[in-house]
Amino acid sequence: MILPQKHSATGTTIFTVMSALAQQHNAINLSQGFPDFPIDERLADLLHEAAKGAYNQYSPMPGVPMLRQAISDDFKRRYGLDVNADTEVTVTPGATYAIYTAFTSVLQAGDEAIVLEPAYDSYIPNIEMNGAKAVPVPLSAPSFDVDWDKVKVAITPKTKAIIINTPHNPTGAAWSRSDWDKLAELVRGTGIYILSDEVYEQIIFDGKEHYTVLQHEELRQRSFALYSFGKVFHNTGWKIGYCIAPPMLTQAFRRIHQFLGFSVNTPGQYALACYLETVRNEPISKMMQAKRDYFLELMRDTPFTIHMPAGGSYFQVAGYERISDMGDMDFAKWLTEEYGVATIPVSPFYSNKKDDKFVRFCFAKKEETLREAVGRLKALSTASLVK
Ligand SMILES: Cc1ncc(COP(=O)(O)O)c(C=O)c1O
Repeated sequence: MILPQKHSATGTTIFTVMSALAQQHNAINLSQGFPDFPIDERLADLLHEAAKGAYNQYSPMPGVPMLRQAISDDFKRRYGLDVNADTEVTVTPGATYAIYTAFTSVLQAGDEAIVLEPAYDSYIPNIEMNGAKAVPVPLSAPSFDVDWDKVKVAITPKTKAIIINTPHNPTGAAWSRSDWDKLAELVRGTGIYILSDEVYEQIIFDGKEHYTVLQHEELRQRSFALYSFGKVFHNTGWKIGYCIAPPMLTQAFRRIHQFLGFSVNTPGQYALACYLETVRNEPISKMMQAKRDYFLELMRDTPFTIHMPAGGSYFQVAGYERISDMGDMDFAKWLTEEYGVATIPVSPFYSNKKDDKFVRFCFAKKEETLREAVGRLKALSTASLVK
């Protein structure tokens, strides 16, 4: 039997590989992007109440109305935006699913979709699973700014979509209004759809504000904006996210969603709806910035190089040229085995495995976790470059 290769990715994702290695060597896991602190007890209580009550059967296909309304209110409150809960919001089993569904809504075999790299690892396989071709465009390391001339060259008559991610995983870079204006210039007059992966929208630092594609009147008409509650309320394991798109695009999105996942677990949706409407967490940027700053302060006593503090997300990339000239995969494995700290090498975020010799740290961890991890890294010596 020969099974079809639906996409070009091979093997297990780097997140699984590094987490397994961390476990095997009893290392502190700063690799995978999830918090190691508990969720708000009130949110846990709401989930319990929903499951004990009458909220255990299939939810409506687009999502529980109360949650869609709470999302709409939330966007009014935080961005001053009008989002129609009935025609523009669809609740999904996580953002990864929403990204796949959005690609499937617009791509046909033979189309092309542009991906700025380094990129979250599901984008390219998702494009290929739709019979389309991914066209990678590298960001400029170490600032990871967009090279607009390269994006322009990558656009062809076959280009059907471009996926943006801000704040960015793995680099922490965040887009400003002018980035969106430049994108608008390039796609004006084309049939290109935009997928805007904004799962880290609420984690943005140094007094900046997240600029969502939904605030860009012109781009909003052709965009799917994709979100994850997991990143906001520290409950990544609930896998609940949502897509906001104009009515025509939402219709196309739901045409796929109704035969893919159909709906999302009901008690989780009720819990999130009540939580959003009544309790509402403190904005998490402040808390995450304190973690980033604490982590960067600790890292000063190690030989790692921080080219740019993360502008958002919960990731920090660091160079290790003063420690070793190994490739980043070998370096990350070596660091886990010899120093007991797991990170993620950045090359797997490039389709051609471009190795800029960076590793990514996740700082969404308790202070004691960060202190102990960096304590171990302090033992690294700059004196002798490890070969
Ligand atoms: C850029 C990016 N998009 C999407 C996701 C996935 O979100 P979810 O867990 O809701 O599927 C992640 C999770 O790490 C991410 O980093």
